[in-house]
Amino acid sequence: MARLKIVALPGDGIGKVVLEQAVRVLEAAGFDADYIYGDIGWEFWCKEGNPLPERTLELIKKHKIALFGAITSKPNEEATAELNPLLQGKGFSYSSPIVGLRQKFNLDICVRPCKSYNGNPLNFIRRGKGNSIEEPLIDVVIFRQNTECLYSGVEWTNPPDNVYQALLSHPKFRENFGTIPVDELSISARIFTRKATNRILQAAFEHAVKFGYKSVTLCEKPNVIRETSGLMWKLAKYMQKNSFPGIKLLNTNIDAQMMWLTKNPEDYGVIVAGNMFGDIVSDGFAGLIGGLGFACSAQFSSDGIAVFEPTHGSAPKYAGYEVSIVNPIAMIESACMMLDYLEKKKISQIIRKAVGDVISEARVRTYDMMKLKGEPEVLKNGAASTIQMADEIISKLKK
Ligand code: NAI
Ligand code: MG
Repeated sequence: MARLKIVALPGDGIGKVVLEQAVRVLEAAGFDADYIYGDIGWEFWCKEGNPLPERTLELIKKHKIALFGAITSKPNEEATAELNPLLQGKGFSYSSPIVGLRQKFNLDICVRPCKSYNGNPLNFIRRGKGNSIEEPLIDVVIFRQNTECLYSGVEWTNPPDNVYQALLSHPKFRENFGTIPVDELSISARIFTRKATNRILQAAFEHAVKFGYKSVTLCEKPNVIRETSGLMWKLAKYMQKNSFPGIKLLNTNIDAQMMWLTKNPEDYGVIVAGNMFGDIVSDGFAGLIGGLGFACSAQFSSDGIAVFEPTHGSAPKYAGYEVSIVNPIAMIESACMMLDYLEKKKISQIIRKAVGDVISEARVRTYDMMKLKGEPEVLKNGAASTIQMADEIISKLKK
């Protein structure tokens, strides 16, 4: 059988560092694959005016599975200033390659598990009865619609006349914004489609059934955002009633959910949301299990393309360190999600067990786990480097 081919997209900054360590861990755990490296990120914007070159898209199309580190995005003015002078003024405009990747391949299902590791000093704690300290174990999976909503990029400042006229036809717009000069208006469209909404709901319910969760919680705001959140709530109720009667459907508003998650996070299992609220609620839960150094994710299209990446970005301020200090666990966990997807569960279990052992043993900890401010000196103060953390995980792999 041909060896598996994984497209490796290191990207920028710490994306490169953590991806390299995740590949080391995968290899040490016995995962047999070839990595085909693809170009993505700031460097390719500056050099060729495209942070997501066509050749990279071709690679993903061909091999269908990618491990992605992180990219750097900067505002338009900076992007233009850093573009190769030979390309300036030739109509190149920057847009985020990770958002582009999601849209190009319609990676509309984003899965973000947040599960606490025993002994992680960053785990959420709270006061319980009699002033005791409680550390509830969190096991939440967020299903985030990944291509629509406020992130679809359909937006205007000083909207063109046809858009403005269409807005004026809405009584609420006329009443509340009709006298505002058009060049003082900025508008971002919140778009939900029935098809994509049904797909993310279906994925969430199926996950609940497969992994024994009793409920799915829809986290939107249908009482206020009546059309888009309202559509999602309506479709969720219909789907639950007709296809998943054994799973309870709960409804929380995003604002209340952000409060509840620090009160009773253990009460939540599968959460489903649109793009923006999914983004927000997944960061919220990630904060309870250790933050960006622990937050992993997977993204799937309907035609078999899958991209696995940590939630964090390229953390430019740590990118230039001679010895990298960032935590590779989020990237390693994302690689484990890839293994699960490839039905290599034995290997992902071995890696997760090793990560768990390193965390609970508390001998080797990156700076974030020691609650230190990120600076090169942390290494002198006992923090492990990125490579030392990966080494320690590798040393614990028990095949
Ligand atoms: P970021 O996630 O890169 O970093 C925020 C802070 O989180 C860091 O300064 C650091 O304190 C901490 N952090 C992040 N990853 C960590 C790790 N593995 N271990 C320990 N600490 C970690 O977000 P920021 O600073 O908002 O954005 C930096 C750049 O990354 C921007 O250009 C942004 O556009 C881009 N970005 C890219 C993403 C992607 O590629 N998917 C996602 C988020 C941001
Ligand atoms: Mg985010």
